[in-house]
Amino acid sequence: MQLWRDNDPQSIAGVLGAMLATATDRIRRRALLLVVAAIVGGICALLAGVSAWLFALGACLALGLAALIGLDDDGGAFARDGEHHGRFGEAEPVGGWRAVLDAVPDPILALDEAGTIIHVNPAARELHVNARVGGQPSLLTRDPEFLQAIDEVIDDGRQRTVEVQERVPIDRRVRITLTALAETFEDEAATDAGSPPRVIMALHDLTEQDRLGRMRVDFVANASHELRTPLASLVGFIETLQGRASSDPAAQQRFLGIMSQQAARMSRLVEDLLSLSRVEMREHLPPRTAIDLNETVAAAIQALEPVARASEATLTFIPCEGPAIVLGETDEIVQVVQNLVQNGLKYGRPGGTVEVAVRRIRQGPSMRLAVAVRDKGPGIAPDHLPRLTERFYRVNAKSSREKGGTGLGLAIVKHIANRHRGELRIESELGKGSIFTFVIDEQARRPSD
Ligand SMILES: Nc1ncnc2c1ncn2[C@@H]1O[C@H](COP(=O)(O)OP(=O)(O)OP(=O)(O)O)[C@@H](O)[C@H]1O
Ligand SMILES: [Mg+2]
Repeated sequence: MQLWRDNDPQSIAGVLGAMLATATDRIRRRALLLVVAAIVGGICALLAGVSAWLFALGACLALGLAALIGLDDDGGAFARDGEHHGRFGEAEPVGGWRAVLDAVPDPILALDEAGTIIHVNPAARELHVNARVGGQPSLLTRDPEFLQAIDEVIDDGRQRTVEVQERVPIDRRVRITLTALAETFEDEAATDAGSPPRVIMALHDLTEQDRLGRMRVDFVANASHELRTPLASLVGFIETLQGRASSDPAAQQRFLGIMSQQAARMSRLVEDLLSLSRVEMREHLPPRTAIDLNETVAAAIQALEPVARASEATLTFIPCEGPAIVLGETDEIVQVVQNLVQNGLKYGRPGGTVEVAVRRIRQGPSMRLAVAVRDKGPGIAPDHLPRLTERFYRVNAKSSREKGGTGLGLAIVKHIANRHRGELRIESELGKGSIFTFVIDEQARRPSD
């Protein structure tokens, strides 16, 4: 912003006037300090025998210097070109309408009368990396309905909303609201550099909402399917007991045994569902209790000894050296170990070995503790690995159900790992076996030690 032109006497007079006003203002602001300095100086001069008129001249010079020094120190008087200052000491608002759009957390673009992009706020830049100032809205999407809506809004000034589906680079559904700006705003906006905005384009990404909706529907469908199967079996057996088998005690005993298994399966599923929702609800609250991982894992394994014996498998445990302190919830860590060991026993080789080890590992500057559960079973094909922690995902649904599985075990383990700010690592090779490792930060010692 230029303050005066060369050889313009009016402007020069204005600048001088402003300098004078600023100097006066500074003198006024420093008056108290100067008065005190003058009195002290005067007393010293008189005591030193300096004549009164010499002292008066010195005081005047000091006042003048004090007023002039630092005229430029806070940028108030001589604002440089391009800075947002108007007349002396009077600041214009910075950024104008662009700053307003930048402050909005939703993605917003502004178009001018010709439909060219004249502003992209940070949220929009994040969503549409290829949207740039000076480009056309077709950079966002070539959807004909969207491009036509822009022309119509510029023509008649009426708001329109369109939904566009993009396939590349990723599948995404975005709702775009196009709002025309009033003519009066153009005048105000014209004070800012460049063309005034004509249309404001607000983008609302619906992809996450769609994903969550699909997940909810899938979850309800899967959960009801898992419950419906044992329930249908129970209803069938009840009818048989009331009818054909009503006078056959041997058949009654057999059917009651199957019914009890189905009821147990239903209750396991309900328990797993509750456990999943509990850990999900607390996922944002990391545990604060210091526990010893060696002790917790040992207790979990001890409780699984009868299960290992029943499947004629061997269960071994190797603790790590010294105390293995982590911030954790004992019940949840026990649940992790039980889920992983039960999988090893269920899907490993019959009569084989499941090894559990607690190890200390270095990761960058910090030390972490790993609970590794290893089996020498048939292993898992690589394409299944990324999906194992999805709810109800099973490599072989029939075999899992036959073994009493609900397909929620690893989903629960993953959420517990998240809550502990840890991770679950899965390594597996077909024909060789699998290693499931739960990794968590090690604490130096128990806070109470
Ligand atoms: N150690 C393993 N070896 C081979 N496959 C495994 C192993 N652990 C898990 N799987 C596969 O991963 C699937 C998902 O495991 P997950 O623990 O989530 O469910 P589940 O064991 O079927 O049921 P739940 O644990 O709820 O009783 C299993 O169905 C199985 O196909
Ligand atoms: Mg399991």
